[in-house]
Order: sequence, then C-alpha cells, then structure tokens
Amino acid sequence: MGDEFEAAIGTATRQLVAHWRALAAREVPVTPPCEPGSVLTALPSAPPEQAESLEELLADTWKVIVPGLTHWQHPAFLGYFPTNNSPASVLAEYVTAGLGVQGMMWSTSPAATELEQVVTDWLAQALGLPEVFHHSGGRGGGVIQDSASSAVLVATAAALQRASQGRWRTAGTEGRYRMYCTERAHSCVPKGSRLSGLGEPQLIATVPGTGRMDPDALSARIDADRAAGFVPAIVVATVGTTDICAVDPVPDIGQLCRRENVWLHVDAAYAGSATLCPEYRHLIDGIDLADSYAVNAHKWMRTGTPCDVMWTSDRAALTDAMSISPSYLRNPATDSGHVVDFRDWQVPLGRPMRALKLWYVMRAHGVQGLRDAIRHDIRLAAELASLITAEPGFHLEVHELGLVVFRRDTDDDTRDLLSRLQTDPTLLCTPTSVNGRPAVRAAFGSPYVDADTLHYVWKRIRTHGQCLENPAASLS
Ligand SMILES: Cc1ncc(COP(=O)(O)O)c(C=O)c1O
Repeated sequence: MGDEFEAAIGTATRQLVAHWRALAAREVPVTPPCEPGSVLTALPSAPPEQAESLEELLADTWKVIVPGLTHWQHPAFLGYFPTNNSPASVLAEYVTAGLGVQGMMWSTSPAATELEQVVTDWLAQALGLPEVFHHSGGRGGGVIQDSASSAVLVATAAALQRASQGRWRTAGTEGRYRMYCTERAHSCVPKGSRLSGLGEPQLIATVPGTGRMDPDALSARIDADRAAGFVPAIVVATVGTTDICAVDPVPDIGQLCRRENVWLHVDAAYAGSATLCPEYRHLIDGIDLADSYAVNAHKWMRTGTPCDVMWTSDRAALTDAMSISPSYLRNPATDSGHVVDFRDWQVPLGRPMRALKLWYVMRAHGVQGLRDAIRHDIRLAAELASLITAEPGFHLEVHELGLVVFRRDTDDDTRDLLSRLQTDPTLLCTPTSVNGRPAVRAAFGSPYVDADTLHYVWKRIRTHGQCLENPAASLS
C-alpha cells in the first residue's frame, strides 16, 4: 500500500507541476469546451465493485475531470475575484490530509488549535489589525472559517446573542432584530440574515457616485427602527464590494455602532489582503471599532480555498451564541476554561487543520513576498485601466486595487462584448453593473499573471470590441 501511494504521489506531483507550467504558458484554455452533461455521461453511472489502482484514478482525473475544469489559476482568469494558490499551500493541504486530524477542540489536536491561534495573530499583525483582534490581546482572536459567508453567519449569531442578552432564540422574539447593509453587500449577507432568522436585511442607501454606505441614512434607519420597537442587532459594512470594490466608511459606521451598541461586522473578503501593504492600510481605518472582521486568505493571499480568516474583539459573544456541550464533547481541558475550542467559533463541529496552509504560506513567501504579489497585480490592473482610458469607444468605470471595471459606449455594445468574452475560452471576464448600466469586470490575481498576459487579454478585448463594429475583424 505504501509503495503504491509513494509512486502515485510522485506521478501526481509531476502531473501538477506540468499543469502549472502549461497554465503559466497559456497552453490550455481558461474555460473548458464542455457541453452540460458531458462529464456526467463520461463517468460510469454505478460505483466500481472491484478496487482500482491509484494510477488509474490519476489517469482518469487528467482524462475526464481536468478537461472539464475552469482554470482559476490560469493567468488569463480575470473573473469574479481571484482564488489564488501556491506550492506551499498545496504542500500543506497534502500534509494536512495525510495527517487526517480533526481539530474541533483543543483536546482533539492541541497543536492544530494553538497553531491557528498563532497564525491568525501573525496575520492580524501583518494586516495591521489592532491588538483587540489578537488571541494574545485577551478578549478577541482569530479563527479560520471555510468562507466569508460563514463569517457573516457566525457574526450574526454573536450579534444576536449580545443584542438580546441570549434571549433571541426564545419564543415571541421573531422579527424583532434587524441587520443593516447596502445593496452592494455580497449576497452572503442577505443569506446570513435569512438563515439566522432575521429575514431580509434593511438596505441602507449609498452616497451617490461613491457606492459607499451613507452613515446618516444608517443612523436615521436605526432611530426609526428603535422607535418602531425593533432591536438593531448588526451592521455589515464592506471593504471592497464585489461589484466595484467600494469601501464603506468604517470609522463613521463604527462610531455609530458603538453609540448604538450594535455589532459591526466588516466584510473585507477580497480587499482585506491589500492591507498587507502599508500604503493600503487606510482601507481599514476605524477597524478598531468593529466587533468582527473577515478576509479571505483564499482570494488574494496564495492560500488554497477554503481559508477565510475571521477575527473578533468579543470572542465570548461568539462562544456564548454557539457553544452547546453534550457529555460526549466534555473533556478536562475544556472544563478547565484555559483552552480555545474552535468548534464554538464556527457552524460545523468538525474542522480540518486549515492553519497549516496559512503557516506554510506565510513562511514560504514571507509577508514581503505576499505584499510583492499584491503590488504586482495592482500594477497590472492600473496598466489595463490606462489602456482602456486611452481607447476610443471604451469607458473606464472603476479601477480599485486589482479590479478594473469598464464598458463600451452603449449598453447594447457592452452586452455584446460581454457575450463575446464569455464565449472566448482563452480568457475569463465576468459581468457586473455600475449605476444600472452593464459593465465588464477584470480582476487580477492569478499567481502566473504577467505583463505579457495583460497585453494578450487587452488585445482580445479590443478585438472583440472591434468585431462588434466590423464582424470581419480577425481574432487570431
Ligand atoms: C466582498 C465579498 N464578500 C463575501 C464573499 C463570499 O465569499 P465566500 O465564497 O468565501 O463565502 C465574496 C466573494 O467573492 C466577496 O467578494
């Protein structure tokens, strides 16, 4: 068994490295030439009765599965927000899987828990987060969630716990508590609001032309809600919205939340990584006023998905909201009160040792290496923005960090460009809308993206644009 495994790991490693090289050289398309159902029909409809070799499994992976994948690590993948990765993270995931530990409580793997405390403190320092979010700071600390969506849900549970002094689950309180965000908040925010029983969040207007939450409108809504008998429980502000990377004014919102005793969760799933660089720290001005904060290390920090890091300055609110202790989970370490049990900081009970990959990534790149990668992507985005600005018929809508949003003269032309881009397998841009008008998003973050790819992508975008005016224009 061990011999077969060793051989298969050697094969898998060679295959992956060859794949990464092919991606970096853009020898494979970004999106697969797949019709719906093509992978379904290529796979047997019943499980194998007899064992197959690991080599056979690998062979089928590259024959059937990989050709049906969209390559998120491809340099011309500019869709959504990046989900980038690195050899250090892959290595850690391999070791983690091999160790196969489950770190739901300190006692079920002490090193998994303590490593997570250390790396979330390291990352807090690297991002410029205040002491209140550090485990070493006393009342707060970081935890690795699977996603920014889970972070919102957990923050909402903690907010409800605090706003209601633990009574939010009792009968007769339905519909009393309120969540606030703007319509630019990620869809995971209304989802968190629904799942936690709050219903739809109350939408706060944005300041025209900025996309940022209007703190005066928030204040007025909170006053009106209190007067009507509601309990404002949580505000979710965003640092770097998904559509246009808008940044809500956290200092003003934070002061208001403090005054009103409302939980403030700040979702910085994408843009949060940028504060590794001191020149972008202003994005989190006022973050000391937040009760919780989340950044997806799996977006822009070379750490494989899933790895959302959430910090809170009030860990007791989290654990009070989520801790349930049946006898089968009791143990002396928990009873002593001297250890952290991360099961009480998240929705699932079980948890893999995700801290190892963040530890490997931070050590293998150094904070300086992670900063360099972010600055590189931001430079490429700036270059695309200036190419767009100089091109007749194209309009730059947004350039924030690694995100560029643009459109054509007319909405019909933008829609046509989008549909051409979305059927071009050699690159991926995704749609959005700005002030009600359709627009194209391009977000830089692939580990292999470089100036050559940028010029390749821009040439394709321009030529697709020219094809709209002159259908005979060549794309080759
Ligand atoms: C601002 C923002 N928040 C939350 C999310 C959701 O992230 P996750 O997939 O980790 O739940 C995204 C995803 O792109 C995002 O851009």
